[in-house]
Amino acid sequence: MERAESQDPVIEVEGLVTYYGSRRILNDVWMRVMPGEIRVIMGGSGSGKSTLLRHLLGLNRPAAGTVRLFGRDINRIPGGEMNALRRRIGVSFQGGALFNSMTVGENVIFPLREHTRLDEKTMRIMSRMKLEVVNMAGFENLMPAQLSGGMIKRAALARAIVMDPQLLFFDEPSAGLDPVVSAELDELILKLRESMNVTIVVVTHELESAFKIADSITVLDRGEILESGPADEVRDSDHPRIRALLDRTPKESQVDADDYLRRLTEAD
Ligand SMILES: Nc1ncnc2c1ncn2[C@@H]1O[C@H](COP(=O)(O)OP(=O)(O)OP(=O)(O)O)[C@@H](O)[C@H]1O
Ligand SMILES: [Mg+2]
Repeated sequence: MERAESQDPVIEVEGLVTYYGSRRILNDVWMRVMPGEIRVIMGGSGSGKSTLLRHLLGLNRPAAGTVRLFGRDINRIPGGEMNALRRRIGVSFQGGALFNSMTVGENVIFPLREHTRLDEKTMRIMSRMKLEVVNMAGFENLMPAQLSGGMIKRAALARAIVMDPQLLFFDEPSAGLDPVVSAELDELILKLRESMNVTIVVVTHELESAFKIADSITVLDRGEILESGPADEVRDSDHPRIRALLDRTPKESQVDADDYLRRLTEAD
């Protein structure tokens, strides 16, 4: 990696504000992620984590603020350049969907077919290598319906890394998995960082997983950043809302009725 680039942040979000309809979803979000870092984004359901990821991918346009990836303002670059930039990014969305009508192998090859002109044989080799990385070698001819939940996540991971991305986004990689499989996935994420020298942003609800993999953590709450910093500092935070999140105070039972009603009645 070039030295100059390795010292600049990979992700720089400044003053990001966004709405769905008239509802403000993200409010003045600032975030900086350095090369090789594993950043975990934590926060309650509906706090805006997936929305933030969508902005990092340039899938949503901010109402205010900027998002820079690799130093480029992604909302102000030409479409062609954005496409080139997206090729440097691997994504596994929440729900981690594979295409159900394609085999595992075809799923993993898909980004190569879309973005490269490699010959068939090269693409097969590349995708097989990535399936090997996620311990799924030999499963390429199975259909997604024949896989377990953990295998689906791993295959989705293989697809996310098939283009050798410099930046990886995972939204809830271990949601719905049993603790053992979820721990394996954590190991895999750490291994990817080691072997691919990649910067990783992970959205997760799973605290154990978060503290196992994170260098740094950003805590979102109702669209605002409560705290952002080294994992240890966040773990020891005495912010009451962060404590509630970390100590698992049952939040659902504390739903603010007025807030809930306002959300229900607000026009979208
Ligand atoms: N396409 C959309 N249109 C309107 N509102 C949306 C849309 N997507 C999300 N929202 C709302 O924006 C808020 C933030 O949603 P988001 O999906 O970012 O939350 P999240 O933190 O990822 O939650 P979870 O942990 O449940 O995945 C929620 O209140 C959600 O209802
Ligand atoms: Mg989400």
